[in-house]
Amino acid sequence: MKHLLSIEELSSEQLTDLVNLGAELKSKRRVNVGKYLPLNHQCWGLIFTKSSTRTRVSFETGVRELGGSIMFLSDRDLQLGRGEPIEDTARVLGRMLDGCVIRTHDHADIVRFAEYSRIPTINALDDDEHPCQILADLLTMQENLGGWEGRKVVFAGDIDCNVARSWMWAAERLGFQLVLAGPADFQPPQAFLKQFQSGNVQIEEDLQAAAKGADVLYTDVWVSMGKEEEASNRFETLKPYQINQSIVDLAKANALVMHCLPAYRGKEITADVLEAHADTIFQEAENRLHAQKAVLVRLAEARLHG
Ligand code: CP
Ligand code: NVA
Repeated sequence: MKHLLSIEELSSEQLTDLVNLGAELKSKRRVNVGKYLPLNHQCWGLIFTKSSTRTRVSFETGVRELGGSIMFLSDRDLQLGRGEPIEDTARVLGRMLDGCVIRTHDHADIVRFAEYSRIPTINALDDDEHPCQILADLLTMQENLGGWEGRKVVFAGDIDCNVARSWMWAAERLGFQLVLAGPADFQPPQAFLKQFQSGNVQIEEDLQAAAKGADVLYTDVWVSMGKEEEASNRFETLKPYQINQSIVDLAKANALVMHCLPAYRGKEITADVLEAHADTIFQEAENRLHAQKAVLVRLAEARLHG
């Protein structure tokens, strides 16, 4: 693995390996302090053109815990924000940095950065995918449910957003059932859906029908970054897809409720459900750190041996 650009590009073996390594790094976090430093003497960059709390802090912490240093580069400061091409930015940073983590809109920009910089490049969310989030979510499933085999995950709300699409690739690769519950207007286009041949990914307009027997109820914001102009229409159309107690009651008795965060209480999830499942949801947030450290370790190893 030279880069982490999407879940789509990963095999089931790679996904499983990253989750297992994330679990190992989590269990050894304290004993590894100052001893396990695979990023020693490395300097990584974080280029973000969208807001972030979890992703930024987990990468800054993760790189440092692994012995490296990291610099945050906002597009407000970079010449990129004034129109310098991504190819030129990549060729400059590729000669100075050991790896780069990028959050932006267009997936093609991250692919181009990886190609032109030739340094390990990590997709920290774009309009198409959020691979780091799904690795942390899988780790959370493994910790709480013992894995994903035979499990039913229901993703409710904006089922064509980046997080939903990454979930789709995870279900396709790993073989669990993923039911996307959302209105017709928010379904991914047929051309995209055609890629999922396994039968693991299903679409259901009725959230109540979808929620029955679920092992995981998952939701994300209704207004993803960049979609703010559509907010009022989205709130109206997505109202029936809120995760509330009546939906939780339809799922399995010990079903997990998960949310990638940030959460908007009273919109995609009610405050009472979020607080009742806060242990899982904030464990999921913490797992961003551990899962991403696994990614950093594997990318550093591949660079060393490649
Ligand atoms: N879930 C997630 O990626 O959160 P941030 O936007 O805060 O990084
Ligand atoms: N779908 C959301 C995820 C936030 C972590 C967004 O893109 O804004």
